[in-house]
Amino acid sequence: MKLSSWPRPAEGRALVAPSLLSADFADLGGELQSLAAAGADLMHLDVMDGHFVPNLTFGPFICEAIRRLTPVPLDAHLMMTHPHRYLEQFAATGVDAITIHVEAACDCGAALDRIGELGCRRGLSLKPATDLGDVRPLLDRVDLVLVMSVPPGFGGQSFDEAAPGRIAALREFRAETGGTWLISVDGGINDVTGARCREAGADILVSGSWLLKAADRKQRTSLLRG
Ligand code: DX5
Ligand code: ZN
Repeated sequence: MKLSSWPRPAEGRALVAPSLLSADFADLGGELQSLAAAGADLMHLDVMDGHFVPNLTFGPFICEAIRRLTPVPLDAHLMMTHPHRYLEQFAATGVDAITIHVEAACDCGAALDRIGELGCRRGLSLKPATDLGDVRPLLDRVDLVLVMSVPPGFGGQSFDEAAPGRIAALREFRAETGGTWLISVDGGINDVTGARCREAGADILVSGSWLLKAADRKQRTSLLRG
């Protein structure tokens, strides 16, 4: 059952989730193999609808193809205004986790519950400008929180210096409430910013351009893992 196979990081370390946004989609099979060989723990799939963010990527059709190409757990990061309309379709592709945005135009609590009913891990993301107070009431209904450390929409942007503080605040809140959800961070992650996020309490580091554009992906994956 896929829920029990979800990875957790070793103490003081992080799981590494390459963002396929920076992959060569003309060689998706080769890219997935290379990232798995480099030690990827999860694959991060950036779904953009051209409305929630000013960019378009791919939907369930490509997620399903990716599913057939790799056994590594998949997290679909839905940068969509209406994610609730597509949850069944994404779950049917075989992704392991579905992450929606708290800023989406939907009842996020109901959408998170639905993701769980569909047999997927429940992820909730927030933009850099969004107050942490907006996600707190929903944290008893999630398996992971995805802290954006860039405005969502594009790879290769620079890291938001406020992100480590937000991660630390979430870690503290998790300890106070006895939560078991993981903290993930996405945007501008490299060896330096990744280490800062890890120290602040991030369990999962998502990295696109820095990791995928490297000549030695294995070395960079190890650096991120800590
Ligand atoms: C941005 C995406 C990220 C992106 C990260 O909207 O959610 O996952 O691929 O790319 P880098 O690591 O290049 O900032
Ligand atoms: Zn992402």
